[in-house]
Amino acid sequence: MSTAPASASGSASAAPEAGAPARQGDKPVNLLGPSFDGVAPVPPAAAASAPAVRIDGVSKRFGNGPVVLDDVSLDIAPGEFVCLLGASGCGKSTLLNLIAGLDKPTAGAIETPAGGSAVMFQESALMPWLTARRNVELALRLRGVPRSERGEKALSLLDAVNLADAADKRPHELSGGMRQRVALARALAQDRPVLLMDEPFAALDAITRDLLHEELERVWRATGRTIVFVTHNVREAARLGQRVVLMGSRPGRIVQEWRIAKTTGRRIESPEVAALSVEITDQLRKEIRRNAA
Ligand SMILES: Nc1ncnc2c1ncn2[C@@H]1O[C@H](COP(=O)(O)OP(=O)(O)O)[C@@H](O)[C@H]1O
Ligand SMILES: [Mg+2]
Repeated sequence: MSTAPASASGSASAAPEAGAPARQGDKPVNLLGPSFDGVAPVPPAAAASAPAVRIDGVSKRFGNGPVVLDDVSLDIAPGEFVCLLGASGCGKSTLLNLIAGLDKPTAGAIETPAGGSAVMFQESALMPWLTARRNVELALRLRGVPRSERGEKALSLLDAVNLADAADKRPHELSGGMRQRVALARALAQDRPVLLMDEPFAALDAITRDLLHEELERVWRATGRTIVFVTHNVREAARLGQRVVLMGSRPGRIVQEWRIAKTTGRRIESPEVAALSVEITDQLRKEIRRNAA
């Protein structure tokens, strides 16, 4: 766990060794340090390769309604953990659905890996009549895994989310946190290179959410999945992301992003998470005030 002092507030200006404030397109990118220094951003075999997800000049309108997303561009590297953060209604779910291929952009293009993506929502959407294990097995079956292998694979996936003991329970016998673990195991069972998560822990209590953050981080490190995690919770984004991308509202667009060099050992109560949250909240408030003006 990092013991960096809160005073090392992680602003770009305090971190010349982490790079001066950079710009990507016309958006400021903050490279955080020194509270986040020591470890480079996940050493990418990936960095040199093509992005896993490329969002290029994407706009979205529903019918004749207002512009929901306006010229959004974002490259996400393979294996990267990106948090998309923004106020309710700013277009986060719309963007995630576009990445998932559930809807088409009005303008612009989105490239995703051939293997596609698995999506996880706030509601676990498990089959209520199937046990945890059978729910995971169903995803394996849809993926074409032979019957003889499904049982064992499902158990090992449940084990990966610390739920092997509850494999034979049905959803109504599980807590909200346990159901989301099953949903995560099921998403992993689909074996897609990209995992899209839309406020998956928003309905959980703080302690359970905290545990799920640890689980998810462990799974991310173990599997090398590219994760796009949508949240309106600043702390959650600062706790989880390698990169936090802040969206503004009406129309939804990217206003700023932060890259966190040292992501190991973070906890929701870590000083660097608190410092980053303060900085992001400042920007978010400015954005909200600007919208209200
Ligand atoms: N299918 C749809 N038809 C019309 N409007 C939509 C549809 N989906 C989302 N919207 C509108 O797009 C805006 C952004 O919604 P959404 O992406 O759900 O925001 P967020 O996930 O950030 O809370 C909202 O104003 C919402 O009403
Ligand atoms: Mg949403």
